[in-house]
Amino acid sequence: MNFEFTEEQLMVRHAARDFAQNELKPGVIDRDEHQKFPAEQIKKLGELGFMGLMTAEQYGGSSMDTVSYVLVMEELSKVDASASVVISVNNSLVCYGLEKYGTEEQKQKYLIPLAKGEKIGAFCLSEPEAGSDATSQRTTAIDMGDHYLLNGTKNWITNGNSASTYLVMAQTDASKKHHGINALIVERGMEGFTIGPKENKMGIRGSDTHSLMFTDVKVPKENRIGEEGFGFTFAMTTLEGGRIGIASQALGIASGAYELAVQYAKERKAFGKTIANLQSIQFKLADMATEIEAARLMCLKAAWLKDHHLPYGQASAMAKLFASKVAMDTTIEAVQIHGGYGFVKEFHVERLMRDAKITQIYEGTSEIQKIVISREVLK
Ligand code: CAA
Repeated sequence: MNFEFTEEQLMVRHAARDFAQNELKPGVIDRDEHQKFPAEQIKKLGELGFMGLMTAEQYGGSSMDTVSYVLVMEELSKVDASASVVISVNNSLVCYGLEKYGTEEQKQKYLIPLAKGEKIGAFCLSEPEAGSDATSQRTTAIDMGDHYLLNGTKNWITNGNSASTYLVMAQTDASKKHHGINALIVERGMEGFTIGPKENKMGIRGSDTHSLMFTDVKVPKENRIGEEGFGFTFAMTTLEGGRIGIASQALGIASGAYELAVQYAKERKAFGKTIANLQSIQFKLADMATEIEAARLMCLKAAWLKDHHLPYGQASAMAKLFASKVAMDTTIEAVQIHGGYGFVKEFHVERLMRDAKITQIYEGTSEIQKIVISREVLK
């Protein structure tokens, strides 16, 4: 075993940390309050190569490993989870999915601009009546010979209004159940494709979450990813890696709140000394530090397995299940340590607490992660 990072991994972590402090932190409270998408910041992250971190250089990416991706996600999420979810979805759901399963033409046309950060991608699986129960897709993609006719609604789509390229799961042959689902590449601006209003969310308010409506959208056959009926397997295998991204986001939210709590505890005076001298505070910090370290190791292990081409579905589900709970618990305690200051926006921890909740919901709720884990346990 080797717990040391390479020089390249340390460099990319440093770059992400700098970016988070210098570029994300200044406007983060305002973006959260006014639900502003961090468009300028995402453009810069693209220029730094963060939108296609793990994509091969030949397809416009940075050719880095998944461990580096975890390090970047942690650093960005310490400050701005609304920005880091864009990085996560673009990298591990959209770019990874296209690189692993797309045709050469699809890679040239769609992957390269996404990995370079010139365009943003979205992953469209959830529907009004198909969230956790993802096989129950109601969106249809009827085979019309040279194209599919796409009809239906997708819900809670991250990057909904800022994306240009959408990977849409839809049912072509209902008699085949999940084996009749296809994954289609849909372009913004295709006739019949409309974007619903932005969701007014509790957390990650800067991220751009919308429902999408498709009415007789003609999607060319060459935009199908993989063989006919591969769509559900595409979604499931892609989500295995996506969950490493969200686990690392949860880790970052937790460690961001923890760092603020440590700093505050060293500065805030009560009863004639800093509150860091109080055992009640020390024990909270000790619990937070221990749980965060465990979550970090789980994220890194899942990433390591993926980098070594070993099965990582169970490890990514465990990392997401655990890290998202650590994010909730740690942010609640960080607000508590801050007392009244923790309840006001200027101190950041209340936002981190609101942002933490979504990590227990998207890319598979905690209950779904338990299904994935227990099925492996009982195999
Ligand atoms: N890899 C490959 N195939 C898989 C798989 C995996 N990890 N998991 C399941 N499958 C396959 C199964 O083998 C099965 O295929 P066969 O019939 O050929 O064997 C098929 O998928 C259906 O699986 P199940 O029979 O297990 O179906 P189920 O309904 O009992 O359970 C589930 C499936 C695991 C609960 C699944 O529906 C699931 O993961 N649900 C959660 C969906 C989710 O994570 N949504 C997130 C939305 S995306 C998002 O949030 C992005 C964002 O914007 C941030």
